[in-house]
Amino acid sequence: MDEKVVIKTKHGELTLQQLAEAQPGIARQMKEIGERFHVLYYAAKAGNWKLAQHELNVVISIFRVGGALRPKFNQDFTTFTQSHLNPISEKIRAKDWKGFEDAYSKGIEEANKLHEKHGYGFIRYVLPKNPPEHFDLAAHE
Ligand code: HEM
Repeated sequence: MDEKVVIKTKHGELTLQQLAEAQPGIARQMKEIGERFHVLYYAAKAGNWKLAQHELNVVISIFRVGGALRPKFNQDFTTFTQSHLNPISEKIRAKDWKGFEDAYSKGIEEANKLHEKHGYGFIRYVLPKNPPEHFDLAAHE
């Protein structure tokens, strides 16, 4: 497996290894997860359950792909999805705001514990006080 597979692009040649290394790592993925976690809270609050579900689905899929790219986080991503993200999804499907709020805050608590576990105790996610301004959060059915 030592031989290099070279891909031709319009900008020049790249090896598969260079392409693999150029994939976003956990820091870049977390940035997107943080944003989507913000949007999904306020979407649910406004009753736009479809938007909330969409944002959560994307978060779950980032964790799945992220785990393949960074095996050392794979187990925690999978467990976190099962124990904290799937319950949020259930509350969204049930359009249960109170249940959603509870599951959501447990998710933040656990995420911050995991940051600490991996040596990033200085990174604590906090739900922004204001809704995102770049979405119309109203449910347009
Ligand atoms: C929905 C839940 C989560 C949210 C909202 C969240 C949010 C964040 C945010 C905002 C950052 C800082 C990104 C930056 O600006 O550099 C971060 C970093 C990080 N998160 Fe999470 N996180 C979540 C779940 C998790 C889970 C389950 C793990 C499991 C291991 C994890 C591990 C990490 C690590 C290791 C970093 C540091 C990455 C680096 O800079 O190299 N997070 N997270």
